[in-house]
Amino acid sequence: MQEPDLVIKTRDVMPDGATTLPAEYYVSQAHFDREMERLFAGMWICAGRTEQVTQPGQFFLREVLGESVIVTRAARGGVNAFYNVCRHRGTRLCTEQAGTFAGSIQCPYHSWTYDLDGRLVGAPHMDEVPHFRKEAHPLHRVHTETWDGHVFLNLSRTPEPLAAQLGPLPEKFQPWRMEELRLGRRIVYDVRANWKLIVQNYNECLHCPNLHPALNKLSHYLSGENEPLQGTYMGGRMDLRPGISTLSWDGSCPRAMLPGLSPLDARRVYYYAIFPNMLLSLHPDYMMVHTLWPLAPDRTVNICEWHFHPDETTRPDFDPSDAVEFWDLTNRQDWHVCELSQAGISSRAYTPGPYSNREDLLYAFDRMIVELHGAPPPGARLGGLRA
Ligand code: FES
Ligand SMILES: [Fe+2]
Repeated sequence: MQEPDLVIKTRDVMPDGATTLPAEYYVSQAHFDREMERLFAGMWICAGRTEQVTQPGQFFLREVLGESVIVTRAARGGVNAFYNVCRHRGTRLCTEQAGTFAGSIQCPYHSWTYDLDGRLVGAPHMDEVPHFRKEAHPLHRVHTETWDGHVFLNLSRTPEPLAAQLGPLPEKFQPWRMEELRLGRRIVYDVRANWKLIVQNYNECLHCPNLHPALNKLSHYLSGENEPLQGTYMGGRMDLRPGISTLSWDGSCPRAMLPGLSPLDARRVYYYAIFPNMLLSLHPDYMMVHTLWPLAPDRTVNICEWHFHPDETTRPDFDPSDAVEFWDLTNRQDWHVCELSQAGISSRAYTPGPYSNREDLLYAFDRMIVELHGAPPPGARLGGLRA
């Protein structure tokens, strides 16, 4: 068996007696609502890719916090996002999940019409209304920014810049040149589990030998190194075993490595959870992105996409199934245990259980969640955690 080159050190960052969270963090509607408001409405959430809105008027919809948001390309090139709400009598403007507006956005009810920057440009029968000004009724805007091809939304009124949330990640992941990558496959999963169980599952590989024997053959579950939780993200890397080129069925790679990667990074897979909803997995030859869309305390829609270099996607024989099917199997194994966890945590018999010393990232994530809710969980032992 390959020896891991670096074992995660945890004893100095997690207090003795650290346990998982009480059940209410996973089952209560009040906790869910608070997390949605403070994290999903308060932080930047990853909504998709600029590739989905390359042409003016091209759009896609995203549902978040019960809101429908239109993401579209402006006539002059930027990415705009609007609440899907007409300024006349509130009607939902658009029901297609994706498509292209023919130069403007028109309400199906009384034909109020907005340009691609959200300005009201047509409002039938309003001319005779005293003091009515079209300029006073633009679409309600949702803040949007992009990072290397990823489109982010922020529902708060005056958000911090996206750069403040991402910290050093844009520089760290610049060599992957993510903006250039193109969608190869998308699979949408409907997971009957709390969104935090999916984040926690993503950030530990202790379950890998047991649950993912195929993955463990390609990448030793104790290899690599984690970063301490950083407040807006957490993650680490794992190393490919000798002779393994990427994560695929047999570890071979039918694609070229991504240009720009160092020889060292071409031997690694990086796994970063960027709070609250993006799981970014960077492989030597492709990028996998999960975005999490919580619907209820025990239900999360999980959109998984695989992106590849355009030199590969434009090949007539391009076939990403070696990577997609490998991860689809691994994903389903993960969602299965997340659903089992949700079921067990919902039992009246559940009590918080002890973390191992290798589950320090999960403990740190829990502490962040507890602070978000404003109170320590009953019986929790605090202190000793590296920030
Ligand atoms: S509600 Fe949209 S035009 Fe009347
Ligand atoms: Fe897993």
